[in-house]
Amino acid sequence: MTVGIPIRRLWPEPSTEPLDDAALTALYGRADQPRLRVNFVASLDGAVTVDGYSAGLSGEPDKRVFGMLRMLCDALVVAAGTLRHEGYRAVRLSENRRAWRRANGLAAYPTLVVVSGSLGLDPAQAAFADAPVRPIVLTHSDAEPPPGLTDVADLLRCGTGRVDLAAGLAELHGRGLTQVLCEGGPHLLGALTAADLVDELCLTVAPLLAGPGAGRITAGDASAPRHLPLRHVLAADDGVLMLRHARP
Ligand SMILES: NC(=O)c1ccc[n+]([C@@H]2O[C@H](COP(=O)([O-])OP(=O)(O)OC[C@H]3O[C@@H](n4cnc5c(N)ncnc54)[C@H](OP(=O)(O)O)[C@@H]3O)[C@@H](O)[C@H]2O)c1
Repeated sequence: MTVGIPIRRLWPEPSTEPLDDAALTALYGRADQPRLRVNFVASLDGAVTVDGYSAGLSGEPDKRVFGMLRMLCDALVVAAGTLRHEGYRAVRLSENRRAWRRANGLAAYPTLVVVSGSLGLDPAQAAFADAPVRPIVLTHSDAEPPPGLTDVADLLRCGTGRVDLAAGLAELHGRGLTQVLCEGGPHLLGALTAADLVDELCLTVAPLLAGPGAGRITAGDASAPRHLPLRHVLAADDGVLMLRHARP
């Protein structure tokens, strides 16, 4: 079944037929080894936000793939900055997507993992308070949680004085959360790139010139460039491109 605006494959092997959910699921898939997949949307001229939020860049095809990538993962990692700014709510999946997960031997929902150095988090935020699975907060050994946070989330402390992202990922893998999806934001992508932890980037390119002002999908201190080969190019009928780049 195809819903909404048709999405077609441009490369490799162009398809004239719109991709249904099963075809999209197969194109993105789960890996047979631990993988960190990052998903972002940007404007044609590289902006990560319009008026401060990602919503102005994201249409129905992007939301469809966004939800599908959530369906496919074990852990959904987001930086505290994006969680706070975008007002993350509890992770929800449609009945169809929960059924797909059950049929594939997965928990009904992925586990939310919030990366924070300061632990400046609000336990009443719906992402914690209404979570269908107890979230994990990835932090370091010196951070003090605010009252109530440990009532709604487990703390995973990796690193001293700063979060050791590689050790945090290894911990998640050890808990069986091997398919990790990161939804940003830019400072977290910058740190993951610097630590050479990004296996895959799924990037939606919105056909929009946002103009100057907004940041890019990455931020923070400079680090060595990393090569990520192109795996597929999809196009939606509203002019949106969906790129998937991944390590060999
Ligand atoms: N277009 C898109 O697809 C997309 C996706 C995501 C976000 N965004 C946009 O990006 C903006 C948010 O960006 P941001 O600059 O706030 O970046 P961010 O990476 O979302 O958040 C930065 C904060 O997250 C925590 N964090 C990130 N990396 C960390 C690390 N290596 N170790 C420990 N903590 C880490 C820290 O939280 P603490 O302060 O708690 O220590 C840090 O202050 C928003 O405007 C959002 O809308 C766009």
